This record gives sequence, structure tokens and C-alpha cells, in this order.
Amino acid sequence: MAGYEALAERKPTRLKQKMRRFFGAWGVFFQGFVEHPVMVGSIIPSSRYTIRKMLRPVDWERCQLFVEYGPGVGTFCQPVLDRLPRDASLIVIDTNPLFIEYLNRTIHDSRFVAVHGSAEDVEEIVRAHGHEQADYVLSGLPFSTLPEGLGPRIAAATYRVIRPGGAFLTYQFSNAARNLTAQHFDRVDSGFEPLNILPCRLAWGWKRKPDAAASNG
Ligand SMILES: C[S@@+](CC[C@H](N)C(=O)[O-])C[C@H]1O[C@@H](n2cnc3c(N)ncnc32)[C@H](O)[C@@H]1O
Repeated sequence: MAGYEALAERKPTRLKQKMRRFFGAWGVFFQGFVEHPVMVGSIIPSSRYTIRKMLRPVDWERCQLFVEYGPGVGTFCQPVLDRLPRDASLIVIDTNPLFIEYLNRTIHDSRFVAVHGSAEDVEEIVRAHGHEQADYVLSGLPFSTLPEGLGPRIAAATYRVIRPGGAFLTYQFSNAARNLTAQHFDRVDSGFEPLNILPCRLAWGWKRKPDAAASNG
């Protein structure tokens, strides 16, 4: 009886904590959208199905630096940290200080660095944190609503910062990110995730290794 009572006591508290955590992140995301609708581009974070499918082709054993653009409230951050080697790093870059402050408050992992800045400056940011290149770059940026010219500049900088053999991972409701990736990367694989609000298109842009380039003529 005492055990049951203790459990009954504990249940609502845990549920409340979970609910607070859940609505906390969504609340911050929604606030970010209301304040900067064009830059955020969505009112709901990505689903776990999108996260799983997007990260599947990553070779985690060979990943020393993973970069994410537009992490928002960190929907991808913990899943990436869960897969990342212990001596690797995750650098996330977002233009919205509200999101960076939220991430720094909620993610406590020595491999994690949250930078308030623009994806356009990825090369400088990566170097400032002691790295030459990134193995993978993941983007949640709303490419179709970004200011004119910014998308192509980000895609070009991303190609330069990724090591040969690495990849640029994008997910978006439209084909804008995939099309941009195709203009800058050597090979693009495409995917689709219906279990997301809204259903979204996934793309993996691969940077060819020099030996592969030579053997292809
Ligand atoms: C659709 S939200 C991504 C949300 C999150 N990654 C998810 O999967 O739920 C887009 C994010 O991109 C950020 N953003 C927009 N322009 C940016 C830029 N130039 N550099 C970095 N982040 C940017 C916004 O502040 C926002 O956090």
C-alpha cells in the first residue's frame, strides 16, 4: 500500500515535469517563430522519424566534427550527441539568440558548442573552434524564405568546409534545399519522410574523395 501510494504520489510530478519540458521546448520554438517567421520557417519541430531517417547514412565512427545550422530548440542535438563518438564535437549555429540561450541552458555536454551567428560564416566558426573541416553538416534552414543570395552563399561555404567523403544533410518541406545542394555537391541522394508536420524532403549531398574523382575520369 505504502509503495502504491508512493508511486501515485510520484506519477503526477514526473508527468508534470515531462509536460513542462515538452511544452517548454515547443513554447520557445513557437515564440521564435512568432518573432522571426521568415527565418524560422516552421511552427513545429521535426519528428523523430525525420531525425532517424536523416541521420541514418552518417558514418559515426569517422565523425570528429558534426555541424548543425538552425538547431532551433535542439530537436536534432540530443540524437546527434547520442550517436557521436566521445572525443568528437557538435557545433550548432543559429541566428536567433533566444534559441542559443535555450540550448546553452538545457544541453550539458562537453562535446556541445552553441554559436550565435550565421551559417554563412561556418568556415570562420569551425576554425575558431580549432577544426580545419567538418565531417557532416546538417541544415534545418528554411532555404526558400532566406534573403536573396544567402542560400547559395551558405551552400558554397558548406561545400568548402566539408571534408572529402563527408556530406551535407538537409530536410525541408520544398525542394529548395535539395536543388541548391545539387548545384554545389558532387552527388545527391534524396529521400522523403511523410511522418512529419508537414511531410518533408530529405537530401544528402556528398563531397567526392579525390581518388574517386580521379577514377571517374
Ligand atoms: C525550421 S527551423 C529548424 C528547427 C529545427 N532544426 C528542427 O528540426 O525542428 C529554422 C532555424 O534556422 C535558423 N536560421 C535561419 N537563418 C539562419 C542562418 N543564416 N544561420 C543559422 N541559422 C539560421 C532559425 O533561427 C531557426 O532556428
